Amino acid sequence: MRGRIRLGVLASGRGSNLQAIIDASRAGRIDAVIGVVISDVADAFALERARTHGIEAVFVDPNLFEAREGFDAAIIDLLRKRDVDLVCLAGFMRLLSPPFVREYPNRIMNIHPALLPAFPGLHVQRKALKHGMKFSGCTVHFVDEGTDTGPIIIQAVVPVLDDDTDESLSARILTHEHQIYPRAIQLFAEGRLEVRGRRVFCQGIPASQQDERRRWGMMNP
Ligand code: GRF
Repeated sequence: MRGRIRLGVLASGRGSNLQAIIDASRAGRIDAVIGVVISDVADAFALERARTHGIEAVFVDPNLFEAREGFDAAIIDLLRKRDVDLVCLAGFMRLLSPPFVREYPNRIMNIHPALLPAFPGLHVQRKALKHGMKFSGCTVHFVDEGTDTGPIIIQAVVPVLDDDTDESLSARILTHEHQIYPRAIQLFAEGRLEVRGRRVFCQGIPASQQDERRRWGMMNP
């Protein structure tokens, strides 16, 4: 049997996606353990969540470094020493430098609260509402050197309702984030993700499920 992969989670804020990964790991729903949680914010609640579950939590102060590369090198060093197989960005509010991305090719994932490539960047739920979208959702993708541009692994779609606010739409999307992020991690842990150019193929999806996707166009692997 394949062993459990080791995750390094980078988070800047409340860490609800981190929590979803912790819960999935503890419940045995993913063949992955979190080796370390790293934040660029000293009092990020994500660090607190990690400590509560006995996971190493490290604050790396960006102010100690003159350039982004120095900060990233410190993080890479932490990840290497903990033998991390997959880096998961979970609300990490910094762009990774090219050397960081090159260190973990197709081994860094990010979760984004929109259906990429629509609405990359920040405040995307507000932008989706303002644009008059009828559907929005979330995307788990591999990280490349651009901003929210890497190959897409899983997306989930949610309706945008007439009475939606930023908050209500964000909350609807978030419940799906918490499902698809652990799912993407598990597909990676099972070695089922194959990246060909911009496309990510998931090996071993039963034909019946593929048929469902053809019919509805909204199912994930
Ligand atoms: C999520 O909406 C995620 O998609 C985005 O940042 C937010 C982080 O939320 N990248 P949390 O810290 O995981 O609760």
